[in-house]
Amino acid sequence: MPALAKIQVKPEIKEKGYEIRIGRNIYSQFAQELLEIKRGSQALLVSNDVIYALYGTKIESELKKQGFQVMVYLVPDGEEYKSWQEAEKILTTMLEAGFNRDGLVLALGGGVIGDLAGFVAAIYQRGIDLVQLPTSLLAQVDSSVGGKVAVNHPLGKNMIGAFYHPLGVWTDLDTLKTLPEREWLAGLGEVVKYGAIWDDNLFDLIEKNIERIRHRDLEFIQFLIFRCCEIKAEIVERDEREQGLRMILNFGHTIGHALEKLTCYKVYRHGEAVAIGMVWAAKLAVNMGLCSTEVRERLEKVLKEIGLPINLPGVKADEILETIVLDKKVRDKKLTFVLPRLIGQVEVIKGIEPEMLKELLSNTVL
Ligand SMILES: NC(=O)c1ccc[n+]([C@@H]2O[C@H](COP(=O)([O-])OP(=O)(O)OC[C@H]3O[C@@H](n4cnc5c(N)ncnc54)[C@H](O)[C@@H]3O)[C@@H](O)[C@H]2O)c1
Ligand SMILES: [Zn+2]
Repeated sequence: MPALAKIQVKPEIKEKGYEIRIGRNIYSQFAQELLEIKRGSQALLVSNDVIYALYGTKIESELKKQGFQVMVYLVPDGEEYKSWQEAEKILTTMLEAGFNRDGLVLALGGGVIGDLAGFVAAIYQRGIDLVQLPTSLLAQVDSSVGGKVAVNHPLGKNMIGAFYHPLGVWTDLDTLKTLPEREWLAGLGEVVKYGAIWDDNLFDLIEKNIERIRHRDLEFIQFLIFRCCEIKAEIVERDEREQGLRMILNFGHTIGHALEKLTCYKVYRHGEAVAIGMVWAAKLAVNMGLCSTEVRERLEKVLKEIGLPINLPGVKADEILETIVLDKKVRDKKLTFVLPRLIGQVEVIKGIEPEMLKELLSNTVL
């Protein structure tokens, strides 16, 4: 893998594609590279206190060196600030500062900042340029790729949003050194997902390199991030608006989301809930005769070795079911699940009777 890995993304809804750059010490060149694709000079850097203190000042000075006029907006840390109110505050700041249509929004942070700043860029004067500078593993492999931006609404997560692609994504691997352990593990939940849904070789490699992963060996992690972005870009290019194929990215998410919702988003990090959800989807698939027990066992083993949870602790089967059935995606009270066939291959199965899931959950829930 070259020191700087690049992926070209060519979404249909953006005439020009964009590049994801993944490497070390990326922030020292990025402002210069940005200048080659960007004309305007106003830049709004959106981040939070923690991340700004670690990386923001360097980015700000690099941008200034290249002639950008930089404004900084810091959002308090936390999912609850991925809100319409916070978006409005940012928009007001931009209007008050006379921010132009050829200005640029830079999202420096995890998925919360990426989604919020991305949403602001999508709606400010009907859309201005956006650059993603993802700093959490989850943001680097998932939320910064694919063009979905959103804020939460009291009635639902990510309910107000848009499809909006960035001008480019700059992923600096060194930011992962300061990522808290739990956030690191949560991101790995999504990494395992890419192997499970699309690429058995990637899954094998994860199984064989648990130690390198646990120690955050950045050379190996660069490969993992690169491959995950490649997979997501390929899936999204084929199905930008989630009409079909893109649904497979939701493997582990049906039960995962229900679990997050039931515990008011306070107990599990998203990737942890997805890890649990993938194992239970595999159990359902085994029960339905769609895959072998080996598939479930390999999934369970790799997630466990990484350090992710795989059990549903003390949650009632009825509660999980009810939460899933209330979800927006349920039609006629029948369930749709992404279920594994093999490692590296899943299928969207519609029309699953809730009773089938209930039986599985009731028989096994602790
Ligand atoms: N748009 C999409 O396609 C998409 C996909 C998946 C998830 N998401 C969204 O992403 C969000 C979750 O993202 P997340 O898991 O990155 O959470 P997050 O943005 O809350 O970041 C997690 C925590 O890690 C901290 N952090 C991030 N990078 C750091 C670093 N390098 N060093 C030290 N601390 C760091 C953050 O300040 C925060 O406290 C959710 O809102 C979810 O809905 C969006
Ligand atoms: Zn996810």
